[in-house]
Amino acid sequence: MDEPFPEENKSQETSQSTFYPCVIGQSKVLLDVFTIIEKVCNTNTTVLIQGESGTGKELIAQALHYGSDRKNGPFVPVNCGAIPGELLESELFGHEKGAFTHAIRTRLGRFELADSGTVFLDEVAEMSPMLQVKLLRVLQEKQFERIGGTKTIISDFRVIAATNKNLEDEVSKGRFREDLYYRLTVVPIKAPPLRDRISDIPLLAEYFIEKFNRSKKRAISGISEEAMRHLLRYPWPGNVRELENVVERMVLLSHGERIGCDDLPERILRPEKRVEHTGEIPQQGFCLSDQVAEFEKGLIVQALDQTNWVKNRAAKLLNVNRTTLLEKMKRYGIEKEDE
Ligand SMILES: Nc1ncnc2c1ncn2[C@@H]1O[C@H](COP(=O)(O)OP(=O)(O)OP(=O)(O)O)[C@@H](O)[C@H]1O
Ligand SMILES: [Mg+2]
Repeated sequence: MDEPFPEENKSQETSQSTFYPCVIGQSKVLLDVFTIIEKVCNTNTTVLIQGESGTGKELIAQALHYGSDRKNGPFVPVNCGAIPGELLESELFGHEKGAFTHAIRTRLGRFELADSGTVFLDEVAEMSPMLQVKLLRVLQEKQFERIGGTKTIISDFRVIAATNKNLEDEVSKGRFREDLYYRLTVVPIKAPPLRDRISDIPLLAEYFIEKFNRSKKRAISGISEEAMRHLLRYPWPGNVRELENVVERMVLLSHGERIGCDDLPERILRPEKRVEHTGEIPQQGFCLSDQVAEFEKGLIVQALDQTNWVKNRAAKLLNVNRTTLLEKMKRYGIEKEDE
């Protein structure tokens, strides 16, 4: 993740897209998001950010925090989906020494650590029903006890939550508490998918080229018009994260001064190949297993790009277990270029 919003970088210009220098984009849908950010950042209102994976939910949460008068307080992210239930409770609320077998010393929880700042509850839909009840209570009372403790802890934090699930659906399926849903969605923000704001693609691509030129000591000057046309046509299922990963690889591997079509991944150059082989089978025939392997390889790279190369998540996306994914990556020689 980029460094957040250093004070000196904040432009005084009125254009909202330059007000949040790290949230790049000028499309109407994104400017609408900026408007909400500006309206609510200096309130203590709970905000729920919903959007597909890679749309910039964490970045929006940071914009809310660093644009508010809590900016000198801590921004404390908690990934509710990545931490198992029992651990998550102690992560959030802390515990007293001796509260359970491995509690050898008192530990402060994230709500306590976020005093005068913001707690970012990422993947909030993954919280267990038991923790949902506890969270509701904390949101209402702003006080709690550490696990195994009796002392009431008071902490002044703001909660921003995010999910890539449709939380209303989760409520109607009985998986998420309705009362908690209303508590969290005082202000809802929708992080728009990249395919709904393709006018932002050139700006984002330019931003990422500069970023990776700096970090990889390259001097790529831009993208050819034809290559850009492909980027604009591609549906970007992994959203901005996928674009960022694709640009990173192109900056690293590009032969020329400008990124051209030769540097584009196959799935972007020929999106029709993504779902099925639509071309004619040549007169002389082709090797079925080579074609299938090529197709499989393309899908694996795509899944990895969509998940920031987090293999567990890529395996989940492809509905294979992690070992299978690792085996296939090894077989096809797939690895992240800078690893
Ligand atoms: N508008 C934007 N401008 C610049 N960078 C962006 C923008 N949106 C997203 N990014 C970058 O894309 C990547 C993914 O963003 P982020 O982690 O905020 O997405 P997310 O919605 O939280 O994804 P997930 O649901 O998978 O956690 C990050 O590296 C982030 O910096
Ligand atoms: Mg996120």
